[in-house]
Amino acid sequence: MQLINQTVRRDWHLYLIGDAHKGSIYHHDDGFREAVSIIAEDRTSKAVFMGDGVDAKMSDNRHFRLDAVNPKCPTPLEQAKDLARTLKPIQRNLVTYLVGKHESDLHRFGDVVEEVCERLRIVQGTYSSIISFLGYNKKLQFKIYVEHGCKVMNSNAADPHDREKAKQKALKSQLRAQQFGDVAIMAKGHAHQLLIVEPTHELYLTTNGGEIKQNYVHNAYTQDYIHPDLRWYACTGCFYKKYGELGTSSYVETAGYSPTETGMIKFTIENGIPVAAEKVIL
Ligand SMILES: [Fe+2]
Repeated sequence: MQLINQTVRRDWHLYLIGDAHKGSIYHHDDGFREAVSIIAEDRTSKAVFMGDGVDAKMSDNRHFRLDAVNPKCPTPLEQAKDLARTLKPIQRNLVTYLVGKHESDLHRFGDVVEEVCERLRIVQGTYSSIISFLGYNKKLQFKIYVEHGCKVMNSNAADPHDREKAKQKALKSQLRAQQFGDVAIMAKGHAHQLLIVEPTHELYLTTNGGEIKQNYVHNAYTQDYIHPDLRWYACTGCFYKKYGELGTSSYVETAGYSPTETGMIKFTIENGIPVAAEKVIL
């Protein structure tokens, strides 16, 4: 766990991006470079890298395939250098880089996250981190909980709407189980899916002076406890394609997983409050 403070303006954008898997032939290089350009050109942007920047895995890993390794950057160090080079244009926007599963699995051979963070001169994240966003007046705007994550969200429902709902429910449940109560946004990577769960502002009635009034539940995001239904939840996607060059099979294809949208999540913050979230599909 790492606790990080970041100063921000009143109106800004937060990008959650990760699971790039540099070094795999299934890495979506065009999409990843476009994502970096979008963040770089957005002068109000801050970004968090959600882990799995490199694909490097041990040859005894059940997902390892020699023909899936990009010959231009086959080793963890070369993949880390390539990642740092690609992220260089947004080094001022990046708040931190979280440890992902692939970086964590390499701990016996060195620290990929440390290598990239030192090259970019950014704060080194851990597997999960809490980031407090503060205004230039030092006042808290809101906090977020971010983790690389270790679980996926599955559904076998036949109806696409039901499938999406089931995955959203699982995402909220997994993140809520981390028990942090004072965060406005809870987000994870790892599952290679783009998902958003918006806050629910439920209707409630009050009586006043002989009248019945309608109201909606809401919370200030600076409070010690933010009701779980009033938080935002997100799964931050990936830049890993199920299908690459013809004549090869990725582990996603071998395992029979559904293809997923590639891209990142963008939050819009107005007057210090997250007001919208969208998938940036690339
Ligand atoms: Fe990943």
